Amino acid sequence: MIPLNKRILTVQTSKIRQFNDYTKEVGVDVILTLGEPDFHTPEEISKEAIYALQHHETKYGPTPGFLDVRKKICEYEKRVNDYDCTPNEVLVTHGSTEALTSALFTMLNEEDEVIVLNPTYPMYRQMVEFMGGRLVPIDISVTDFQVTKEQLEKAITPKTKAIILTSPNNPTGTVLNDQSYEILYQLVKDKPIFIICDDVYNQIIFENRKPGFVRYKDLKDRIIVCQSYSKSYAMPGWRCGYLIANEEFISHAVKIHQYMIVALNTFIQPAMIKALDFDSKDMVQSYKERRDYIYDRLIRMGLEVKKPEGAFYIFPSIKKFKMSSFEFCKKFAEEYKVAIIPGDCFEADDYIRISYCVDMDTIQTACDRLEKFIKALEEKE
Ligand SMILES: Cc1ncc(COP(=O)(O)O)c(C=O)c1O
Repeated sequence: MIPLNKRILTVQTSKIRQFNDYTKEVGVDVILTLGEPDFHTPEEISKEAIYALQHHETKYGPTPGFLDVRKKICEYEKRVNDYDCTPNEVLVTHGSTEALTSALFTMLNEEDEVIVLNPTYPMYRQMVEFMGGRLVPIDISVTDFQVTKEQLEKAITPKTKAIILTSPNNPTGTVLNDQSYEILYQLVKDKPIFIICDDVYNQIIFENRKPGFVRYKDLKDRIIVCQSYSKSYAMPGWRCGYLIANEEFISHAVKIHQYMIVALNTFIQPAMIKALDFDSKDMVQSYKERRDYIYDRLIRMGLEVKKPEGAFYIFPSIKKFKMSSFEFCKKFAEEYKVAIIPGDCFEADDYIRISYCVDMDTIQTACDRLEKFIKALEEKE
């Protein structure tokens, strides 16, 4: 074999997807694994793409995305997050995954450190390490899923290049509070550190939604927003999102984007404009009702769990069963035919992630079976 890139050999494929495939092999019939809305893309959004296709919008588009799309993104960010940006600060990307990857490629040098708040979304480690950086996780499961000054101070070094904030979080559904933001702000404001806001769930917040780190307008030059259409508008298969950063940053990020994908698919871009006027409140209300139900059931089962304030995941602790999260989830899948995700996939082995972006009947069946499984485990002890 001709030697390949050294780092690519160490990149791991998604354990979430691997585990999901495994559960199919053992014949599960109840699936709460993937972070994919059960809703269809709203028809008014899809119609825009169909119209564009019928009108032959199938040529190469401009590399950063059509200007009217970028203008709309600026209008939306101002309206929803009170965030001021210009079209030259926006790059239309292939989902937030590409926004995140392009941003990391643009900023990271060898040995640079990127702080994340654990439990954390797995792609960060894979991409940061692939680019020669080092991931520095802060375990916020021990601080009620909020940031503390002590932990953050310890984690920041002269090598810190960025901090990634995911609020609401995947896998916990927790939302950073004002105090966490203030701690972050105070500790980074005088340091050359980027704040990457992975905002893919920031439209799915159940109460008191507020802008995230973008509230600190004086740090705008260092804020990188990565946004997605996958969750808020039920468009995961469309693969669209965007990156917002200062103009100079974007002028470099666009090079990665150009050589990776050239430009986003032209005919979906009119639908991106339409989506930003879509009000997802009914979807959010539905996730909230499911959150209430599943949280209540888990508490009644005696599981320790933080009530999620957004997204569509819940992350109960399984520490008391003294088994690894893979063992727990495998056994549950094999014996009770329900698929959920081991917390180890998010670097938090004492937990399991349940995605509740499925219909109520499925959630109810999953809870009934989990209750039986837990009882059986407890009786064995
Ligand atoms: C925290 C987080 N960031 C980014 C993504 C990727 O989203 P997209 O579909 O826009 O690539 C996901 C998808 O699950 C996610 O959970």
